[in-house]
Amino acid sequence: MKKLNNSPLLIVMILFISLLILNSCGGVPEEKGETSAAEDNVFSVDEVLEMVSKENDVTRTLYTKAIVGKGMLQGMKFDEDWRKDDVEAGPLPALFLRGVATSIKKGPVPLGLYLGSDFPVNKANKFEGQQAELFKDIKETQEPKFFYDESQELHTAMFADLASAQACVTCHNDHPQTTKTDWKLGDVMGATTWQYPKDSLTYSGAIEVLNAYSKGTVDIYMEYLDEIAAFKSSEKPVIGDKWPSEGNYLPSPEVFLDSVRKLSSYDTMKTLIASK
Ligand code: HEC
Repeated sequence: MKKLNNSPLLIVMILFISLLILNSCGGVPEEKGETSAAEDNVFSVDEVLEMVSKENDVTRTLYTKAIVGKGMLQGMKFDEDWRKDDVEAGPLPALFLRGVATSIKKGPVPLGLYLGSDFPVNKANKFEGQQAELFKDIKETQEPKFFYDESQELHTAMFADLASAQACVTCHNDHPQTTKTDWKLGDVMGATTWQYPKDSLTYSGAIEVLNAYSKGTVDIYMEYLDEIAAFKSSEKPVIGDKWPSEGNYLPSPEVFLDSVRKLSSYDTMKTLIASK
Protein backbone atom coordinates (compact mmCIF):
# COMPACT_ATOMS: atom_id res chain seq x y z
CA MET A 1 0.00 0.00 0.00
CA LYS A 2 1.38 3.39 -0.87
CA LYS A 3 0.77 5.16 2.39
CA LEU A 4 2.93 7.68 4.16
CA ASN A 5 4.70 7.16 7.42
CA ASN A 6 2.83 9.22 9.98
CA SER A 7 1.82 8.81 13.56
CA PRO A 8 -0.82 10.49 15.70
CA LEU A 9 2.04 12.39 17.33
CA LEU A 10 3.00 13.67 13.92
CA ILE A 11 -0.62 14.58 13.23
CA VAL A 12 -0.76 16.53 16.46
CA MET A 13 2.45 18.31 15.51
CA ILE A 14 1.15 19.15 12.06
CA LEU A 15 -2.08 20.49 13.54
CA PHE A 16 -0.14 22.51 16.05
CA ILE A 17 2.09 23.98 13.37
CA SER A 18 -0.93 24.76 11.14
CA LEU A 19 -2.52 26.57 14.05
CA LEU A 20 0.68 28.53 14.69
CA ILE A 21 0.84 29.53 11.04
CA LEU A 22 -2.84 30.45 11.04
CA ASN A 23 -2.36 32.63 14.09
CA SER A 24 0.83 34.30 12.96
CA CYS A 25 0.18 35.10 9.30
CA GLY A 26 -2.50 37.65 9.93
CA GLY A 27 -5.34 35.40 8.80
CA VAL A 28 -6.83 35.65 12.26
CA PRO A 29 -6.93 39.33 13.17
CA GLU A 30 -8.28 39.22 16.71
CA GLU A 31 -8.43 36.65 19.46
CA LYS A 32 -12.15 36.11 19.75
CA GLY A 33 -12.56 36.18 23.49
CA GLU A 34 -11.35 33.11 25.27
CA THR A 35 -11.84 30.61 22.46
CA SER A 36 -8.96 29.85 20.14
CA ALA A 37 -9.25 27.91 16.89
CA ALA A 38 -8.26 24.76 18.74
CA GLU A 39 -11.42 24.94 20.84
CA ASP A 40 -13.90 25.36 18.03
CA ASN A 41 -16.00 22.38 17.09
CA VAL A 42 -14.41 21.87 13.71
CA PHE A 43 -15.48 18.29 13.09
CA SER A 44 -18.93 16.85 12.73
CA VAL A 45 -19.40 13.63 14.66
CA ASP A 46 -19.81 11.84 11.31
CA GLU A 47 -16.34 12.91 10.19
CA VAL A 48 -14.74 11.71 13.41
CA LEU A 49 -16.56 8.37 13.39
CA GLU A 50 -15.47 7.90 9.80
CA MET A 51 -11.84 8.58 10.73
CA VAL A 52 -11.85 6.15 13.62
CA SER A 53 -13.61 3.59 11.45
CA LYS A 54 -10.80 3.84 8.88
CA GLU A 55 -8.21 3.25 11.58
CA ASN A 56 -10.25 0.28 12.64
CA ASP A 57 -10.34 -1.13 9.10
CA VAL A 58 -6.57 -1.04 8.93
CA THR A 59 -6.08 -2.50 12.39
CA ARG A 60 -8.60 -5.25 11.77
CA THR A 61 -7.13 -6.21 8.40
CA LEU A 62 -3.58 -6.16 9.75
CA TYR A 63 -4.54 -8.28 12.74
CA THR A 64 -6.58 -10.73 10.64
CA LYS A 65 -4.07 -11.19 7.83
CA ALA A 66 -0.63 -10.57 9.32
CA ILE A 67 -1.21 -12.02 12.80
CA VAL A 68 -4.07 -14.55 12.62
CA GLY A 69 -3.69 -15.65 8.98
CA LYS A 70 0.10 -15.88 8.90
CA GLY A 71 0.28 -16.98 12.53
CA MET A 72 -1.94 -19.99 11.87
CA LEU A 73 0.49 -21.05 9.13
CA GLN A 74 3.18 -21.06 11.83
CA GLY A 75 1.00 -23.20 14.08
CA MET A 76 -0.23 -20.37 16.32
CA LYS A 77 -3.74 -20.87 17.65
CA PHE A 78 -6.63 -18.39 17.78
CA ASP A 79 -9.77 -19.28 19.62
CA GLU A 80 -13.01 -17.77 20.87
CA ASP A 81 -12.17 -19.20 24.31
CA TRP A 82 -8.68 -17.71 24.24
CA ARG A 83 -9.07 -16.21 27.71
CA LYS A 84 -9.68 -19.58 29.38
CA ASP A 85 -6.70 -20.84 31.36
CA ASP A 86 -6.58 -24.21 29.61
CA VAL A 87 -6.81 -22.70 26.11
CA GLU A 88 -3.41 -21.58 24.81
CA ALA A 89 -4.48 -19.27 21.99
CA GLY A 90 -4.91 -15.68 20.89
CA PRO A 91 -8.12 -13.70 20.30
CA LEU A 92 -10.08 -14.14 17.07
CA PRO A 93 -10.45 -10.93 15.05
CA ALA A 94 -13.98 -10.24 16.35
CA LEU A 95 -12.80 -10.73 19.92
CA PHE A 96 -9.85 -8.47 19.30
CA LEU A 97 -12.41 -5.81 18.33
CA ARG A 98 -14.50 -6.60 21.41
CA GLY A 99 -11.33 -6.11 23.49
CA VAL A 100 -10.81 -2.70 21.91
CA ALA A 101 -14.46 -1.80 22.66
CA THR A 102 -14.09 -2.91 26.28
CA SER A 103 -10.94 -0.88 26.75
CA ILE A 104 -12.58 2.25 25.28
CA LYS A 105 -15.57 1.78 27.58
CA LYS A 106 -13.29 1.73 30.63
CA GLY A 107 -11.69 5.04 29.61
CA PRO A 108 -13.06 8.61 29.73
CA VAL A 109 -13.96 9.00 26.02
CA PRO A 110 -17.68 8.30 25.41
CA LEU A 111 -17.14 6.32 22.21
CA GLY A 112 -19.16 3.15 21.61
CA LEU A 113 -18.10 0.32 19.30
CA TYR A 114 -20.05 -2.81 18.39
CA LEU A 115 -19.65 -5.45 15.67
CA GLY A 116 -22.95 -6.96 14.57
CA SER A 117 -24.46 -9.01 11.77
CA ASP A 118 -27.76 -10.37 10.44
CA PHE A 119 -26.41 -13.95 10.53
CA PRO A 120 -24.06 -13.93 13.51
CA VAL A 121 -22.01 -16.75 14.94
CA ASN A 122 -22.76 -15.37 18.38
CA LYS A 123 -26.45 -14.51 19.01
CA ALA A 124 -25.38 -11.51 21.10
CA ASN A 125 -24.05 -9.95 17.89
CA LYS A 126 -27.38 -9.91 16.02
CA PHE A 127 -28.54 -6.47 14.90
CA GLU A 128 -31.94 -5.44 16.18
CA GLY A 129 -34.47 -2.67 15.54
CA GLN A 130 -33.31 0.37 13.62
CA GLN A 131 -29.79 -0.99 13.13
CA ALA A 132 -31.16 -4.24 11.65
CA GLU A 133 -33.25 -2.20 9.19
CA LEU A 134 -30.35 0.02 8.14
CA PHE A 135 -28.05 -2.97 7.82
CA LYS A 136 -30.23 -4.25 4.95
CA ASP A 137 -29.23 -1.19 2.92
CA ILE A 138 -25.58 -1.51 3.92
CA LYS A 139 -25.57 -5.06 2.58
CA GLU A 140 -26.84 -3.81 -0.77
CA THR A 141 -24.77 -0.67 -1.19
CA GLN A 142 -21.76 -1.21 1.13
CA GLU A 143 -22.22 2.48 1.97
CA PRO A 144 -22.11 3.67 5.59
CA LYS A 145 -25.15 4.96 7.47
CA PHE A 146 -25.11 8.00 9.73
CA PHE A 147 -28.08 8.71 11.99
CA TYR A 148 -29.21 9.86 15.40
CA ASP A 149 -30.41 7.02 17.57
CA GLU A 150 -33.32 8.61 19.44
CA SER A 151 -33.74 5.78 21.93
CA GLN A 152 -30.12 5.87 23.07
CA GLU A 153 -29.64 9.59 22.36
CA LEU A 154 -26.42 8.84 20.50
CA HIS A 155 -25.06 9.86 17.14
CA THR A 156 -24.48 6.61 15.33
CA ALA A 157 -22.52 5.48 12.29
CA MET A 158 -22.51 2.01 10.75
CA PHE A 159 -19.81 0.79 8.36
CA ALA A 160 -19.80 -2.43 6.34
CA ASP A 161 -17.50 -5.18 7.61
CA LEU A 162 -16.35 -7.12 4.56
CA ALA A 163 -15.09 -10.65 4.19
CA SER A 164 -11.69 -9.35 3.18
CA ALA A 165 -9.75 -12.57 3.68
CA GLN A 166 -10.50 -16.21 2.95
CA ALA A 167 -9.99 -16.91 6.66
CA CYS A 168 -13.16 -14.89 7.49
CA VAL A 169 -15.27 -16.96 5.11
CA THR A 170 -13.88 -20.38 6.01
CA CYS A 171 -14.05 -19.92 9.74
CA HIS A 172 -17.61 -18.50 9.74
CA ASN A 173 -19.00 -21.09 7.30
CA ASP A 174 -17.51 -23.96 9.30
CA HIS A 175 -18.27 -22.67 12.77
CA PRO A 176 -20.54 -25.02 14.80
CA GLN A 177 -22.77 -22.10 15.88
CA THR A 178 -22.94 -20.40 12.50
CA THR A 179 -26.33 -19.25 11.20
CA LYS A 180 -25.12 -19.13 7.56
CA THR A 181 -22.76 -21.48 5.73
CA ASP A 182 -22.37 -19.84 2.32
CA TRP A 183 -20.42 -16.66 3.05
CA LYS A 184 -18.19 -15.65 0.12
CA LEU A 185 -15.10 -13.49 -0.18
CA GLY A 186 -16.19 -9.83 -0.46
CA ASP A 187 -19.57 -10.34 1.27
CA VAL A 188 -20.79 -7.79 3.79
CA MET A 189 -20.58 -10.06 6.84
CA GLY A 190 -21.57 -7.44 9.34
CA ALA A 191 -21.11 -3.82 10.29
CA THR A 192 -19.23 -1.92 12.93
CA THR A 193 -21.50 0.46 14.79
CA TRP A 194 -19.88 3.53 16.36
CA GLN A 195 -21.64 5.90 18.73
CA TYR A 196 -20.86 9.25 20.29
CA PRO A 197 -23.06 11.60 22.33
CA LYS A 198 -22.18 14.98 20.79
CA ASP A 199 -22.83 16.20 17.23
CA SER A 200 -19.47 17.95 16.80
CA LEU A 201 -15.94 17.84 18.18
CA THR A 202 -12.91 20.08 18.59
CA TYR A 203 -9.49 19.12 17.22
CA SER A 204 -8.46 17.85 20.61
CA GLY A 205 -11.78 16.01 21.00
CA ALA A 206 -11.19 14.26 17.67
CA ILE A 207 -7.66 13.32 18.66
CA GLU A 208 -8.92 11.97 21.99
CA VAL A 209 -11.30 9.69 20.11
CA LEU A 210 -8.50 8.43 17.84
CA ASN A 211 -6.18 7.95 20.80
CA ALA A 212 -8.83 6.06 22.77
CA TYR A 213 -9.10 3.69 19.83
CA SER A 214 -5.32 3.13 19.52
CA LYS A 215 -5.00 2.68 23.26
CA GLY A 216 -7.72 0.04 22.98
CA THR A 217 -5.78 -1.88 20.34
CA VAL A 218 -2.61 -1.78 22.44
CA ASP A 219 -4.54 -2.93 25.54
CA ILE A 220 -6.04 -5.99 23.87
CA TYR A 221 -2.81 -6.80 22.06
CA MET A 222 -0.96 -6.68 25.38
CA GLU A 223 -3.56 -8.99 26.91
CA TYR A 224 -2.78 -11.41 24.09
CA LEU A 225 0.96 -11.17 24.84
CA ASP A 226 0.24 -11.73 28.56
CA GLU A 227 -1.72 -14.83 27.61
CA ILE A 228 1.29 -16.09 25.64
CA ALA A 229 3.58 -15.43 28.59
CA ALA A 230 1.41 -17.84 30.59
CA PHE A 231 1.50 -20.66 27.95
CA LYS A 232 2.56 -23.93 29.58
CA SER A 233 2.64 -26.48 26.78
CA SER A 234 2.63 -24.45 23.53
CA GLU A 235 5.75 -23.02 22.01
CA LYS A 236 5.94 -19.28 22.69
CA PRO A 237 6.53 -17.01 19.72
CA VAL A 238 9.47 -14.61 20.01
CA ILE A 239 8.18 -11.08 20.55
CA GLY A 240 10.08 -8.22 18.94
CA ASP A 241 10.31 -6.58 15.55
CA LYS A 242 9.45 -9.61 13.40
CA TRP A 243 6.05 -10.78 12.13
CA PRO A 244 4.55 -14.27 11.83
CA SER A 245 5.24 -14.25 8.08
CA GLU A 246 8.92 -14.75 8.99
CA GLY A 247 8.50 -17.58 11.49
CA ASN A 248 7.37 -18.09 15.06
CA TYR A 249 7.43 -14.38 15.82
CA LEU A 250 5.00 -11.73 16.95
CA PRO A 251 5.52 -7.99 16.77
CA SER A 252 5.82 -6.12 20.05
CA PRO A 253 2.90 -3.76 20.83
CA GLU A 254 5.03 -0.82 19.64
CA VAL A 255 5.84 -2.51 16.33
CA PHE A 256 2.20 -3.51 15.81
CA LEU A 257 0.90 0.00 16.57
CA ASP A 258 3.58 1.58 14.42
CA SER A 259 2.42 -0.47 11.43
CA VAL A 260 -1.21 0.48 12.04
CA ARG A 261 -0.16 4.11 12.12
CA LYS A 262 1.88 3.85 8.96
CA LEU A 263 -1.03 2.28 7.14
CA SER A 264 -3.87 4.42 8.46
CA SER A 265 -2.73 7.87 9.40
CA TYR A 266 -2.35 9.18 5.89
CA ASP A 267 -6.11 8.99 5.36
CA THR A 268 -6.79 10.28 8.83
CA MET A 269 -4.44 13.19 8.36
CA LYS A 270 -6.01 14.11 5.04
CA THR A 271 -9.38 14.38 6.77
CA LEU A 272 -7.98 16.31 9.70
CA ILE A 273 -6.30 18.81 7.44
CA ALA A 274 -9.01 19.11 4.79
CA SER A 275 -11.74 19.84 7.31
CA LYS A 276 -12.48 23.50 8.09
C1 HEC B 1 -10.92 -18.47 13.09
C2 HEC B 1 -12.31 -18.07 13.09
C3 HEC B 1 -12.72 -16.68 12.62
C4 HEC B 1 -12.12 -15.86 11.71
C5 HEC B 1 -10.84 -16.07 10.96
C6 HEC B 1 -12.98 -14.68 11.60
N1 HEC B 1 -14.05 -14.78 12.43
FE1 HEC B 1 -15.53 -13.45 12.61
N2 HEC B 1 -16.16 -14.39 14.25
C7 HEC B 1 -15.74 -15.63 14.68
C8 HEC B 1 -16.42 -15.97 15.89
C9 HEC B 1 -16.24 -17.25 16.72
C10 HEC B 1 -17.28 -14.87 16.20
C11 HEC B 1 -18.17 -14.68 17.39
C12 HEC B 1 -17.35 -14.05 18.47
C13 HEC B 1 -18.17 -13.69 19.67
O1 HEC B 1 -18.69 -12.56 19.69
O2 HEC B 1 -18.30 -14.52 20.55
C14 HEC B 1 -17.10 -13.91 15.12
C15 HEC B 1 -17.80 -12.72 15.00
C16 HEC B 1 -17.83 -11.96 13.87
C17 HEC B 1 -18.80 -10.90 13.58
C18 HEC B 1 -19.92 -10.46 14.51
C19 HEC B 1 -21.17 -11.26 14.15
C20 HEC B 1 -21.04 -12.72 14.48
O3 HEC B 1 -20.89 -13.50 13.52
O4 HEC B 1 -21.10 -13.08 15.68
C21 HEC B 1 -18.50 -10.44 12.34
C22 HEC B 1 -19.26 -9.36 11.58
C23 HEC B 1 -17.35 -11.14 11.88
N3 HEC B 1 -16.97 -12.06 12.82
C24 HEC B 1 -16.74 -10.92 10.66
C25 HEC B 1 -15.50 -11.46 10.36
C26 HEC B 1 -14.65 -10.99 9.29
C27 HEC B 1 -15.03 -9.90 8.28
C28 HEC B 1 -13.50 -11.71 9.35
C29 HEC B 1 -12.27 -11.56 8.51
C30 HEC B 1 -11.71 -10.22 8.41
C31 HEC B 1 -13.65 -12.67 10.44
N4 HEC B 1 -14.86 -12.48 11.02
C32 HEC B 1 -12.71 -13.61 10.76
C33 HEC B 1 -14.82 -16.43 14.04
C34 HEC B 1 -13.93 -15.99 13.08
